[in-house]
Amino acid sequence: MRSLLFVPGDSRKKLDKALTSKADALLIDLEDSVDLGAKAEARQVTATFLAEARNQADRPRLYVRVNGLSTGLIDDDLDGVMQAAPDGIVLPKAVGGVDASHLGAKLAVREAEFGLDDGGTRILAIATENALGVFALGTFAGASHRLMGIAWGGEDLSADLGAETNRREDGSYAEPYRLARALTLLGAAAAGIDAIDAVYTNFRDMDGLAAECREARRDGFVAKMAIHPAQVPVINEAFTPSIEAIERARAVVEAFKANPGAGVVGVNGEMLDRPHLLRAERLLGRV
Ligand code: COA
Ligand code: MG
Repeated sequence: MRSLLFVPGDSRKKLDKALTSKADALLIDLEDSVDLGAKAEARQVTATFLAEARNQADRPRLYVRVNGLSTGLIDDDLDGVMQAAPDGIVLPKAVGGVDASHLGAKLAVREAEFGLDDGGTRILAIATENALGVFALGTFAGASHRLMGIAWGGEDLSADLGAETNRREDGSYAEPYRLARALTLLGAAAAGIDAIDAVYTNFRDMDGLAAECREARRDGFVAKMAIHPAQVPVINEAFTPSIEAIERARAVVEAFKANPGAGVVGVNGEMLDRPHLLRAERLLGRV
């Protein structure tokens, strides 16, 4: 997955539009973009949409962002949408692996209740929305076999910190958010799952988005969340491995295959050892 597009779960119009956006996944939102008074209706709109969209050929993955574990809303969210068998659930305000396990238990109950494959529903945790979550980023390893990735975000974290803004005057993220971003990369690597970059809220600024995508890819993120369909092509392009990168990775894998037992090989005048092989294999795994 390269692009994950947020869509308010109470808007059938946007949900239909998102289906043709070419996003690799839709993150159908029951949380922050849906007013408290509209939650019940959003669950219904979302379930109806899921039931119809999941049978379409060549569709994006369909994930639902439920309300957080401490809101008192999450069980009604899951009861409302799990019968329509979403591919995954997005957990906002997650505080470490314990929260991923907790959600995993709730999903297991619904899978049994609705006759779905045991363990089939994936989890994506949004893991830096408050200070506690940032301190818990090192705890995701082994938390749940459902957990496919962790994403970071700077919007809710700035509210938790009482900050005036999360950006410096030059537009770059201020220190606390850069720390959360870096720890997300480290936490994901430590858990062997994907690191997913934050949304870029200025949805008319494609140059700014492209620049942020390049930095994210460079540092090890494999995907980025989006809030507007126009952001999807920019993200997809940035996170699709280039033909040259694929060829280089294949050459590395071939070189190690041709030298069984070798810890280090030379390719085109460059020394390559195990980390290079792992990186090449990981890139080819995304193609
Ligand atoms: N998914 C699907 N369709 C979307 C969309 C989205 N995330 N964002 C915008 N669109 C649609 C609009 O409905 C509009 O459709 P139309 O041409 O058929 O009328 C079209 O794309 C162009 O939209 P635009 O006028 O540029 O933006 P807007 O002012 O309608 O919407 C937002 C701006 C921010 C309200 C909207 O992008 C949005 O709802 N984003 C998702 C918000 C969200 O889920 N946040 C939670 C996670 S942070
Ligand atoms: Mg939020």
